[in-house]
Amino acid sequence: MANTLGIVKPDGVRRKLVGKIITKIENSGLILRGMKVVRLSKEDAKEFYAIHEGKPFFNSLVEFMTSGPIVVMVIGGHGSIERWRELMGATDPAKAKYNTIRREYATSVEKNIVHGSDSETTARAEVSFFFNEDEILPKG
Ligand code: RTP
Ligand code: MG
Repeated sequence: MANTLGIVKPDGVRRKLVGKIITKIENSGLILRGMKVVRLSKEDAKEFYAIHEGKPFFNSLVEFMTSGPIVVMVIGGHGSIERWRELMGATDPAKAKYNTIRREYATSVEKNIVHGSDSETTARAEVSFFFNEDEILPKG
């Protein structure tokens, strides 16, 4: 029952899609255990996406992720990591399945509306990047 980190990226907040995304989370049976609105500094974004440092899209990704506020969420429930990734859809919206968030709303590979942790290890690290223990609703 690991928690995962979800983010509504700056394009999602700018386009007022936060409510629609939360509705999808609620309807899927996943559980919201924490949520806040934040704006990343360049340093924050570089640290958060450190795994992509050196890739051709890194600088653009950092610019994009710092271009406006984001909504960060702790998402729980059975199989939350995989289920949230499934709900998001593939990174490239053109390849994402129907009824996924990226298929419905994303406009490019970069401006793809949402983020989700991709493993238990990254989920743990990414949740604690944004949340203190006392800001997360306990399980059960
Ligand atoms: P995320 O980490 O944001 O949940 O997305 P992901 O796992 O589906 O994709 P990942 O490979 O981790 O890439 C992180 C984010 O970088 C941007 N990106 N741009 N221009 C490009 O070719 C490119 N590739 C990736 C996207 O915003 C992607 O979500
Ligand atoms: Mg990723």
